[in-house]
Amino acid sequence: MEIVITDRPEVIAADIIESYARAGKTLGLATGSTPVKTYQELIRRHREEGLSFAECRAFLLDEYVGLPREHEQSYYRTIRREFTDAVDIDDALVASPDGTSTDPLTAGASYDAAIRNAGGIDLQLLGIGSDGHIGFNEPGSSLASRTRLKTLHPQTIRDNARFFDGDEDQVPRHVLTQGLGTILEAGHLLLIATGAGKQEAVTALVEGPVAAWCPASVLQLHPHATVVLDAAAAAGLKNREYYRFALANKPARQGF
Ligand code: F6R
Repeated sequence: MEIVITDRPEVIAADIIESYARAGKTLGLATGSTPVKTYQELIRRHREEGLSFAECRAFLLDEYVGLPREHEQSYYRTIRREFTDAVDIDDALVASPDGTSTDPLTAGASYDAAIRNAGGIDLQLLGIGSDGHIGFNEPGSSLASRTRLKTLHPQTIRDNARFFDGDEDQVPRHVLTQGLGTILEAGHLLLIATGAGKQEAVTALVEGPVAAWCPASVLQLHPHATVVLDAAAAAGLKNREYYRFALANKPARQGF
């Protein structure tokens, strides 16, 4: 795992995403507050530097169950509002799990099939929950899980109430999320974490054991994972000196 500790996580993340966009690769997108600055940086590059997403397609990580697609807080709408409507990606190629499906069990399997039929995800962007979740794979999720229906952890409901007028009762209880096994099949995982609220989860992800109680720790099993942190999120890491040294002495990489 490559650990990058930086004042500008959004610039490092945008550099990585840009290299995949220039090659017309398939992007896995995340929502939540963490990637917003990265999306803003990519939109700036699109407008000012001609960065194009026209050859890309995208798959979202997850979606609330029961919110209509046009609800402001559905991830279908959120990703369009915060990123894809502002760049030149074909809207028909921005896919998300169908949270309106009457049969969420089938919806999960269909989503995995759609990813497979598209040739898989080349670069998957991830945030991390304060309880260590990625996507909405809450603590206890199977490390081999596929896209499926999950119940949110009460902590995630509390965390996400800020998007629903601060009212926990408005936060859907269920989601469809790419599974940990699905996420592990992407070619490259790029996780961004910022702020002191993520410190504990980041320490467990990077330096804890691989364990279902910290679903993000599955990144340790992936051959190409990059974790981009600000100083506050990285503050609990014991091995910081080595991560800085390894990055400064990084061997050149061929291709992706
Ligand atoms: C969002 C997602 C979640 C968030 C996580 C962190 O698509 O899959 O795992 O990345 O809940 O959320 P923020 O960035 O709002 O702290």
